[in-house]
Amino acid sequence: MESSFFVHPSADVSSKATVGDGTRIWQHCQVREGARIGRGCILSKGVYIDAGVRIGDNVKIQNGISVYHGVTLEDGVFCGPHCVFTNDRQPRAIKPDGSLKSTDDWTVSETLVRRGASIGAHATIVCGITIGQWAMIGAGSVVTRDVPDYGLVYGNPARLHGFVCPCGEKLVEAAGEAALAAGAAAPAGVVALVCPKCDTRIAIPQLTYAGANT
Ligand SMILES: CC(C)(COP(=O)(O)OP(=O)(O)OC[C@H]1O[C@@H](n2cnc3c(N)ncnc32)[C@H](O)[C@@H]1OP(=O)(O)O)[C@@H](O)C(=O)NCCC(=O)NCCS
Ligand SMILES: [Zn+2]
Repeated sequence: MESSFFVHPSADVSSKATVGDGTRIWQHCQVREGARIGRGCILSKGVYIDAGVRIGDNVKIQNGISVYHGVTLEDGVFCGPHCVFTNDRQPRAIKPDGSLKSTDDWTVSETLVRRGASIGAHATIVCGITIGQWAMIGAGSVVTRDVPDYGLVYGNPARLHGFVCPCGEKLVEAAGEAALAAGAAAPAGVVALVCPKCDTRIAIPQLTYAGANT
């Protein structure tokens, strides 16, 4: 069945790419062959989607972002303006003898951004890592290590400073009855957190929680 999506006349979408219903692709975007973009996504001005890249449903990719081969964005990921993905941990243009490296002369390091995660404006994601579900990356961060589910990280290098609710609010330790309620649903070895805004309860593994610099 044909899917129905919007492509601005200035964008270049390969006929060998797959784009889901309701996705909007704005000015000066390029979507390469073999890319698979889900439904309801927004590719803002000047986005580049490399060959074979997979993007889930309802993903927002803001202005000027390149999503390179080796990067995968799951459903609901938010990429803030001009954030930077990478795919080669040891980049070189030339070999030791000065000759140009070919496209086969390097190793792709993969990056996975899991469901609902947000990346702040101008953050740089060094490749070979996973950004957990609903994690949040502060603006301008340089992310060099895996980020746990719900993790709030920022800075250069990005450090874990807390945990965030799917609604975006910072989670706090559940106290009293709330702790009992959250704890009842959570196995041992976890810390019960609660959202002060929407009351969602989230259990974070004790070891992960201990690593946060709150
Ligand atoms: C990280 C963020 C989510 C806020 O987290 P927070 O824990 O509520 O942060 P606070 O505002 O309470 O600040 C806490 C400290 O962290 C610092 N901080 C906040 N954001 C930071 C960032 N991105 N990088 C470095 N330090 C940061 C603050 O300066 C403050 O430091 P201080 O205690 O020494 O004064 C937010 O600052 C951010 O970067 N959001 C992303 C915005 C964005 O890029 N949106 C894109 C769409 S437009
Ligand atoms: Zn919440």
